[in-house]
Amino acid sequence: MAFAPRGGRGGRGGGFGDRGGRGGGRGGGRGGFGDRGGRGGARGGRGGFGDRGGRGARGGGRGGARGGRGGAAGAKGGAKVIVEPHRHAGVFVGRGKEDLLLTKNLTPGESVYGEKRISVSAQNDADGPATTVEYRVWNPFRSKLAAGILGGVDDIYMKPGSKVLYLGAASGTSVSHVADIVGPEGSVYAVEFSHRSGRDLINMATRRPNVIPIVEDARHPLKYRMLLPMVDCIFADVAQPDQARIVGLNASLFLKVGGGVLISIKANCIDSTAQPEVVFAQEVQKMREMGIKPKEQLTLEPFERDHALVAGIYQRAS
Ligand SMILES: C[S@@+](CC[C@H](N)C(=O)[O-])C[C@H]1O[C@@H](n2cnc3c(N)ncnc32)[C@H](O)[C@@H]1O
Repeated sequence: MAFAPRGGRGGRGGGFGDRGGRGGGRGGGRGGFGDRGGRGGARGGRGGFGDRGGRGARGGGRGGARGGRGGAAGAKGGAKVIVEPHRHAGVFVGRGKEDLLLTKNLTPGESVYGEKRISVSAQNDADGPATTVEYRVWNPFRSKLAAGILGGVDDIYMKPGSKVLYLGAASGTSVSHVADIVGPEGSVYAVEFSHRSGRDLINMATRRPNVIPIVEDARHPLKYRMLLPMVDCIFADVAQPDQARIVGLNASLFLKVGGGVLISIKANCIDSTAQPEVVFAQEVQKMREMGIKPKEQLTLEPFERDHALVAGIYQRAS
C-alpha cells in the first residue's frame, strides 16, 4: 500500500491527549505507512510549552499514589503540578498551569543544561514515609524526540531497560533524557563526531553511568563496534545528506532484527532546493532500501520547521 504521510508541512498537536490542543500549527502533518494508513492531520494545536524556554511550573505540595504533586526545584510555592505517566513508558507529563513533558531524573538534584526540575512527594500508604521523585522538564524546542512525542508518534522503540544507539548526540541534552527513559537497567550509546560537543557529552556521561559517549564519525561504525552490543533502537539526528546511509550502516551492524529506527530528517540539510515533502519521501525510500520498513512519519512543527520524524522497523540483518 502506498505511503501516506499526512499534510505537508504542518505539525500535529495535542501531545498530552485530552488536554493539549491549543493554538494551531501550519496544517496537518502525520501519517502512517502501509497497513495502517495515515491518521491525524487537521488537528493543529499543541499543549504545554508556550515559549521556547519551556518554563517549569512552580509550587509545592504532596502527592498521591499515581505520582503526586510537586513544584519546580527551588521554587517557593504557587501552582501545583501533578505528574502522570505518559503512554510511552519512561516519559511523564506534568499537569499544571501548563502541561510539561518530563523524564525522571537519574541524578536527582542536578540539571544537565539548566532545565527545570520538579520534585514530587508521593505517599502510597497513609502511615508510610513519603518518598520524593524528581523529574526534569523536557523542552520540545530543544529535542526532536520530545517534539515527536508531543506530535503523537506511536512508538519510540525505547523504554526502561532498552539499549539505544543515538547518532548525532551533540552535547548530550536530548541524550540525557533518553538516559532517564531507559533508566539504570538500560544504556545509551551516544555517537558524536565533534570534539567540542563531545567534551560536554563526556562530561554529562560522567554523572550518568548508563550513557556511553563515543566521539567518532558515525560513518565509520567499525571504529566503535567493540563498544556496542546489539541494540533495541537507533535514534538518528546527524543532519547530514547521507544520514539514511549512515543509519543503514549502523543498523546492519548493531540493530536487532525487529528493532526500531527513529530518524529526524532536516529537509534543507539534504536538499535545500527541493520541497521538504519530496525530500522526506526520498529519505523514506532510502530507508526501505536499507532494510528499514517505515511505519510512521510526522512533521515536527510547531517545534521545528521543515523537519520530519520517520519511525520504522529494521527487517534485514546484513
Ligand atoms: C542536529 S545536531 C543533534 C542535536 C541532538 N540530537 C540534540 O537533540 O541535542 C546534529 C549533530 O550530529 C553531529 N554529527 C553530524 N554528522 C555526524 C557524523 N557523521 N558522526 C557523528 N556525529 C555527527 C553534529 O556534530 C551535531 O552535533
